[in-house]
Amino acid sequence: MHTLILKGEDALKTGAGLIAAGEVVAFPTETVYGLGADAFNGEAVKKIFAAKGRPSDNPLIVHVADAESVKALVDGIPFGARLVMDKFMPGPLTVIMKKSDKVPESVTAGLDTVGIRMPSHPVARAFIKACGTPIAAPSANRSTHISPTSAEHVFEDMDGRIPLIIDGGDCEVGIESTIIDMSTDVPTILRPGAITAEMFAGVLGAVKTFSGKVVVAKAPGMKYKHYAPSCDTAVALTVESAKKAYDEAERNGLSPVIVASSGFCNKLDGRTHIDVGASDADICRNIYAALHRAEKIAGFIICEHFGDKGVCGSVMNRVMKSAGGKTV
Ligand code: TXA
Ligand code: MG
Repeated sequence: MHTLILKGEDALKTGAGLIAAGEVVAFPTETVYGLGADAFNGEAVKKIFAAKGRPSDNPLIVHVADAESVKALVDGIPFGARLVMDKFMPGPLTVIMKKSDKVPESVTAGLDTVGIRMPSHPVARAFIKACGTPIAAPSANRSTHISPTSAEHVFEDMDGRIPLIIDGGDCEVGIESTIIDMSTDVPTILRPGAITAEMFAGVLGAVKTFSGKVVVAKAPGMKYKHYAPSCDTAVALTVESAKKAYDEAERNGLSPVIVASSGFCNKLDGRTHIDVGASDADICRNIYAALHRAEKIAGFIICEHFGDKGVCGSVMNRVMKSAGGKTV
């Protein structure tokens, strides 16, 4: 299959035509690129799993362009969910609610809940509107690889596997949406993101943060390997330990690279590095692009520990998985 990359009106028209024909299309959102199909077409949705190599027990998020479209997808909207949606949608948030009968099993992997997301990215919104149907979409990477934040990243993973990539430039947020489960009595954050637990506190009374310690993973995707670059990766707790690990890797014949914030990079005495910027928002926006570049130029990636507070905590949730939990 030939994979086209298109921009603008042309891309939207071609994309909507492919979705209507039961095909899959990659499209930009403010978080990461998604790989979409008509959420009401179970057969089309199966093509997403095939293109990604994704296990079929890992459910997909359903993307809508407006609040009206949510009604057909869920079995009522709980009061708390309504508050959260009013405050944070459109934006980098996915809300889990009880599903309606209309949502095919292939979307929710047999669960009785569905994840709903209303992206703020203008191209995502225009695309969903042009399709005239909700769009089921995971991130547009091959299963286990780093999520894509540009059309080029999608092409590297999906060339020959999907018919179209809609190019909307680089993603602004840079990591996947926060997932909050509103189908239970106490809302629970299943995946941290740019919308943090502190931000929910102003809207909801109590929010549980997922500890990762339950036996049955609540977001089924969490049990799988995730965000893995093609080479070994480790997280450095200090500048000194990053330099030490770098020098050791070099002695072992690996070409190492350090992915870090600007202040950290300034202290590396000429060692090869990728600077992800100074602010929390910069780090979040640039982290996946940095990991994509790092795996191309290096045999070993050392990534700074950016801290546990706010959005950096969400970034570290991903980076720790990239590193398989390894620290230096
Ligand atoms: O920002 C995002 O959320 C991106 C863009 C494309 O919207 N999408 C994304 O999808 O990250 P994906 O499939 O890569 O991650 C979705 C996660 C998976 O871990 C999945 O298990 C979980 O959401 N999930 C989906 N539906 C769920 C449900 N009903 N209950 C619990 N977890 C669910
Ligand atoms: Mg993903």
